[in-house]
Amino acid sequence: MEHKVFAYKDLSDLTDNLIAIGQNLCPNKDSSVLARPLSFGSIHMANRIAFQAMEGCDGEISGEPSELTRRRYRRFAASGAAFQYVEATAVDANGRANPLQLMINEQTAPAFAQLRKEIRTVAQENGVCDPFVAIQLTHSGRYSKAPDRSPAPVVAYPDPERDPKGVIPTVITDDQLDALEEKYVQAARLAKEAGFDCVDIKCCHGYLLSELMGARLRKGKYGGSFENRSRLINNITRRIRDEVGIAMMVRLNVHDEYPYPYGFGVDEKDFRIPDLTEPKLLVDMLIQNGVSIIDCTAGNPYYNPHVNRPFDTAGYVPPVSQLEQLMKHLNTVRELKEHNPNAIYIASMFTWLRQFAPHLASAAIEQKWFDMAGWGRQSFAYPDFPHELLDTGEMNPKKCCLACSKCTDLMRTGNVTGCVLRDQYYTDLYQSIPLEKRPKPSKNLREKV
Ligand SMILES: Cc1cc2nc3c(=O)[nH]c(=O)nc-3n(C[C@H](O)[C@H](O)[C@H](O)COP(=O)(O)O)c2cc1C
Ligand code: SF4
Repeated sequence: MEHKVFAYKDLSDLTDNLIAIGQNLCPNKDSSVLARPLSFGSIHMANRIAFQAMEGCDGEISGEPSELTRRRYRRFAASGAAFQYVEATAVDANGRANPLQLMINEQTAPAFAQLRKEIRTVAQENGVCDPFVAIQLTHSGRYSKAPDRSPAPVVAYPDPERDPKGVIPTVITDDQLDALEEKYVQAARLAKEAGFDCVDIKCCHGYLLSELMGARLRKGKYGGSFENRSRLINNITRRIRDEVGIAMMVRLNVHDEYPYPYGFGVDEKDFRIPDLTEPKLLVDMLIQNGVSIIDCTAGNPYYNPHVNRPFDTAGYVPPVSQLEQLMKHLNTVRELKEHNPNAIYIASMFTWLRQFAPHLASAAIEQKWFDMAGWGRQSFAYPDFPHELLDTGEMNPKKCCLACSKCTDLMRTGNVTGCVLRDQYYTDLYQSIPLEKRPKPSKNLREKV
């Protein structure tokens, strides 16, 4: 089915389209399933709505959240979503995706503690649930930037598809990877002291830990076998369990949709077909190490954004429709949960479906495909949708994200980011950029579609 702009008029329209693409998941008429609480061990979620990690690229140079960062989290805190992140936060100055990416260390930790408190206060003031909040710990690997915003890639291995033309990037050594383990553990310790409910060990979207999962051609103890490729995340999660004692989750690329031998979770002959043999081994290992939440995602926003976040416009036309891409994702989450149900599973990518997403998510949760549904861009565009949905059973289509990719365009061109269409602050910011300097939609990158 071809990629085209969102045009469903009603639920039956969506249902017909699901049948046409061979999916027999029929959206629920109502979305009350999303209001059901969820308990897993000592973790309690007030409902099934998750806000995915969303970077605003607007921290201080020091790595502390700025006033603009705090504005975003106040909006999220008032939403009523039971699960929320504090976005990708670097554990090391050499692994920041931009010079204003959040970073946690001894100096910045008090500001994170303040942010965590503020989230609770705002939730209380607004009479919504006190969310379960995870901080996402990351090293941006090949997408790291220097303080002057020039690329400063730290790669797990050279990759002709992704390496900048004519440049051989620095390959991180085994000793440096050993040292990074300690940084994650220390960051988790600081996050616990700062009052976070959970740490997320980010292993997705081509950043360092995710890239390592595809390090089949790397030599040494971090490359080659599955055991070697998963060594760092294995060691980090075991040590956090044993030495820190905070709830853990992993935002996981279930499949990269990136060619073998570099792609993880992909069929060797056709990288568009997921092969979950290794993702299943990884999930077993993570759960064994005490990870309680697997937040599933896919793709690489720099290489194949349609896999990562179905869109209407982004400068190229993807090979399949947004609904097929979404259903491919949901089916992979279902397969993982069926394989090992001993964790909370969160599925991503619901934003593109606008007001119909809660109905599809409800059906999938009811049929035990996963436990919670996650929204990314919708949290920028329409942060109050969870409590509106929980109160009225509906989302307002006039407030929904239109999947226009302008927030990503802002981010890729070195700006702070938020919803250009629905949040006046970013509308004004976008319009203040002279026409000739306005971010252009990113062409598709390297994948030949
Ligand atoms: C502007 C922007 C910032 C993002 N920041 C993060 C991040 O910090 N960490 C992360 O894991 N994913 C990040 N993502 C990906 C989202 O969490 C989410 O997976 C993606 O947008 C697909 O979900 P959606 O279709 O509901 O938007 C970001 C996406 C966008 C557009
Ligand atoms: S700019 Fe707003 S409407 Fe456009 S994709 Fe981003 S969140 Fe959605």
